[in-house]
Amino acid sequence: MSTNDNELRVGMVGYAFMGAAHSQAWRTVNRVFDLPARARMALICGRDSGKVAEAADRLGWDEHTTDWRELVSRPDIDVVDICTPGDSHAEIALAALAAGKHVLCEKPLANTVAEAQEMAAAAASARAGGARSMCGFNYRRVPAVALMRQLVAEGRLGEIRHVRATYLQDWIVDPQFPLVWRLRKEVSGSGALGDIGAHIIDLTQYVTGQQITGVSAVTETFVKERPLPSESSGLAAQTDGGSAATGPVTVDDAAIFVARLNGGALATYEATRFATGRKNALRVEINGSLGTVAFDLERLNELEYYDATRPAVEQGFSRILVTESDHPYLSAWWPPGHIIGYEHSFTHQMRDFIEAVATGVDPSPSFAEALQVQLVLDAVVRSAELGSLWTAVEPALATATA
Ligand SMILES: NC(=O)c1ccc[n+]([C@@H]2O[C@H](COP(=O)([O-])OP(=O)(O)OC[C@H]3O[C@@H](n4cnc5c(N)ncnc54)[C@H](O)[C@@H]3O)[C@@H](O)[C@H]2O)c1
Repeated sequence: MSTNDNELRVGMVGYAFMGAAHSQAWRTVNRVFDLPARARMALICGRDSGKVAEAADRLGWDEHTTDWRELVSRPDIDVVDICTPGDSHAEIALAALAAGKHVLCEKPLANTVAEAQEMAAAAASARAGGARSMCGFNYRRVPAVALMRQLVAEGRLGEIRHVRATYLQDWIVDPQFPLVWRLRKEVSGSGALGDIGAHIIDLTQYVTGQQITGVSAVTETFVKERPLPSESSGLAAQTDGGSAATGPVTVDDAAIFVARLNGGALATYEATRFATGRKNALRVEINGSLGTVAFDLERLNELEYYDATRPAVEQGFSRILVTESDHPYLSAWWPPGHIIGYEHSFTHQMRDFIEAVATGVDPSPSFAEALQVQLVLDAVVRSAELGSLWTAVEPALATATA
């Protein structure tokens, strides 16, 4: 934080999908929440000078640059917000931490366990100098998910027996959809697994307070060759109409695994980009000895709750409309029943990040927590390669070097 005021000057790298979502959140957060520091949208970085200038103007950033190294080394930047694909997370985050910046890095933390270990170690060292770091698992910040966690933590579900998590998309069902960066391992690290599987791994571990200890997995790449894109962009890319050139898909299209959690629960996970008709369908259900909770991102203002301690004649699933001012995050928003949406999870993420940085505590999920998710992803890949062999997840503490 700048020494003479309570302003946090943010430098953000990447200005497409997550860049826009984060910009919206930085713009909004101090206008909604009363926080001990104010975020200033100081500097945005992208590789194309014309496009980043346009993005700065459109998204509301003071200045722009084409060099992330300039961004991380500028003394007037306090926070580095990384919204690039996974192949640049480690390099940018390590440089930012070395320069003493606070870092918010999009998920998955890195493309490999080795990179994630280095980042977690660097974050631990930088913390001694006051720099804080966090990974962007934004779905933790949906109020209904936070309520789900509260109910579990209060013991309202009793002993957790089952975790059932699916994250389903369909944006590459068409074999003519181009070979965008998300389908190239050297840029993305993995496919559906690291992109959307990482979210449900983090979310279920966060909600249950339990960690995955071992997995048995299958993965598949249904379409192995795709047309090259005209521009290596995101979820709505175009093919290069003039060219018949194709390239290999080097990541999984789908990953399915069973898992054991350290509190005794059995879990199933499904992450796929081939669930025809399912656009961004994230669903989690937790069954305990005293009840069940279920969350569906397509109805993100609601939580399904079954309380098995009620008299048998009254039992049944209830739909909690998570819009009361006593619900997590909601006292700052609208009157009860006036619902919120996807983008609010990012505003809440920035709220928690700013508060942690300004009050000198560690935000969560830390890089160490995100490393643990990376270790689960790695176990899934290794299990699938070995014909679904049961594969233990290495403990994060034993692998972090600091
Ligand atoms: N939290 C979520 O729900 C969520 C959703 C989507 C993506 N993500 C994550 O966010 C990250 C970015 O994904 P996206 O969907 O925004 O991708 P995107 O393709 O929409 O945007 C990537 C941006 O990074 C820029 N970029 C790439 N390499 C760069 C470099 N070396 N230097 C500077 N800029 C560079 C691109 O120009 C572009 O602006 C990924 O890690 C992804 O997994 C998270």
